[in-house]
Amino acid sequence: MMKLITAEPSDFDRTAAEIVAEQIRHKPDSVLGFATGSTTVQFHRELAALHVREGLDFSLISSFNLDEYRGISAADPESCRYRMEEQLFAKINITRNRIYFLDGLAEDMDQECSEYERQIERLGGIDLQVLGIGTNGHIAFNEPGTPFHTDTRVVDIAKQTIQDKSLLFGSESNVPRQGVTMGIRSIMHAKSILLLAKGAAKAGIIHQTLYGPVTEQVPASILQLHPQLTVVLDKEAASELPLHASSIGEKG
Ligand code: GLP
Repeated sequence: MMKLITAEPSDFDRTAAEIVAEQIRHKPDSVLGFATGSTTVQFHRELAALHVREGLDFSLISSFNLDEYRGISAADPESCRYRMEEQLFAKINITRNRIYFLDGLAEDMDQECSEYERQIERLGGIDLQVLGIGTNGHIAFNEPGTPFHTDTRVVDIAKQTIQDKSLLFGSESNVPRQGVTMGIRSIMHAKSILLLAKGAAKAGIIHQTLYGPVTEQVPASILQLHPQLTVVLDKEAASELPLHASSIGEKG
């Protein structure tokens, strides 16, 4: 079943952070999956604020990020790792050796990817996976056309995504051409999923994702089949949905 929450732009990040906070309060040693991107910046800061303001305790959680650019290091400000540190990890009481990240510089990528999957399994699987979405429907770096049965692996980044990320990297030519990413199957194994989208640029793809056919051409559409999906949208991202008028809707 899908739970759909449409928030005022001013409430978007707090609404999303509160869902993760609830998960942590309910299960302090939760295994959480995080996603970088412009969508999650303020959401991460809101989570950090819950730690500072209310003492939300991150000390027992384990954290896995979805993906990383290939060929850039954790010291690089554009890396997913660096941004997670800056936005969240540096500001909370997370236990350092419970932070797991795919290493974009690993020499043996196959080994890096299979070890990541094994580590998730050893900890009992991801309890709550946060996802953003690309304008082309990608989740993590699983671009359109990705088979649904894929695991963690190295991938080519789609042209559309390279264009979308040119601002972050300063120019299109600076955007890495490859990423290392959890697969669609790895994501679908999470016990619950929180999909976040904001802004008018996401309205069309959100409509296709939630109400269109489940197809590998829209990787995020597989989420329709997940038993525990919560979607938080701002009004703009929800503007093409039939349920747009209601603030909370459920689609069974
Ligand atoms: C990147 C990441 C995705 C993320 C997406 C959305 O491609 N690999 O995990 O969901 O960007 O980014 P944004 O939130 O900036 O739109």
